[in-house]
Amino acid sequence: THIDWDIDLAEKGGYPDFMMKEIYEQPRVVRDTLVGRLSGAGEIDIDELGLSFEELNLVDRVYIIACGTSLHAGLIAKNNIESWARIPCEVEAASEFRYRDAIITPSTLVVAVSQSGETADTLAAIRDARIKGAKVFGITNVVGSPVARESDGVIYTKANKEIAVASTKSFIGQVVSLTLLAMLLGQVKGRLTPGQTRMLFRDLGDTAGYIQKVLDTQSAAIAEAAAACAHASSALFVGRGMGAAVSFEGALKLKEVSYLHAEAYAAGEMKHGPIALIEPGFPVIAVATKSAVYDKLVSNLKECEARGAKIIAVATEGDEEIGRIADHVIFVPKTCEAFMPIVATVPLQLLAREVALMRGCDVDQPRNLAKSVTVE
Ligand code: G6P
Repeated sequence: THIDWDIDLAEKGGYPDFMMKEIYEQPRVVRDTLVGRLSGAGEIDIDELGLSFEELNLVDRVYIIACGTSLHAGLIAKNNIESWARIPCEVEAASEFRYRDAIITPSTLVVAVSQSGETADTLAAIRDARIKGAKVFGITNVVGSPVARESDGVIYTKANKEIAVASTKSFIGQVVSLTLLAMLLGQVKGRLTPGQTRMLFRDLGDTAGYIQKVLDTQSAAIAEAAAACAHASSALFVGRGMGAAVSFEGALKLKEVSYLHAEAYAAGEMKHGPIALIEPGFPVIAVATKSAVYDKLVSNLKECEARGAKIIAVATEGDEEIGRIADHVIFVPKTCEAFMPIVATVPLQLLAREVALMRGCDVDQPRNLAKSVTVE
């Protein structure tokens, strides 16, 4: 018998492109990133940390520095670090951080997030921060990379090699790793008990199954939503709280792979400018999962609806209200607010990919972009 052996297809694990393969690997990335991270005593265990508990307890300010998608992982982590550890946390593009006079003392923790571990601006920011006396913690996907070597401690994201230029599974690995770090800081500061940590850890692990459910059930809804915005000339992503951070990543993914102009806004800010863009048919993509600010977001969306926007919502399963204002709804399972981004980002990755394919783009190798940017 003759076996048709397509090397290209084999490398992509049977998927049509690497982007899709990598999106579908995300449940595994969540599980692998968590393996061995909770001790029997209910403590977060990051032994490659390179910093003692005493050193960590002194931390009174955190800067998360990164570029691109990695920067968005930082935006999500900021919320968790501040709420669990009560340490002020700023998130900043490495290209800005390295050229300004940030307040750095020996009790500053700089967390550098980089998939490749070799982004020039991120590395320069690490070097500068260490000279100024900060402790530096790296989060990277590449073992032995410059970010890993030049930091005091490191967490590896366990995404495995990522080939598509637009980052997907690495982002999920980064968010999960940063969540572990936030939990650890919460413990070190005496604000998270082992019992609370165990519960959070379990809920965090559950997101693997929730991502799987989105992958298994939402393709048709995502394809419909993609068709609704594929031929627009611009799109607006909105959300509030954690949802705002997710919208930044959604807009970036869409720009990267489909060349459709998109911008993201914290929905409460829309009335100060972006709402002027809305005219009939203008696509507004909302991260509208249930949260403390859900009602606020819905009223922002009503303002868009009144102006004729075409609304695509990522919403929580069981939400019957959202269908009244949204033209298209993509459902994600219910999670606590802290872990929502891990699940809600996935349909936006798939949406970006679908739109790109409808516009005839190469989703794995978008024009003008490089997987790793080692020059300034
Ligand atoms: C490039 C890539 C992006 C990535 C960014 C930061 O622009 O195309 O996908 O998010 O660099 O890369 P890093 O390796 O530091 O995470």
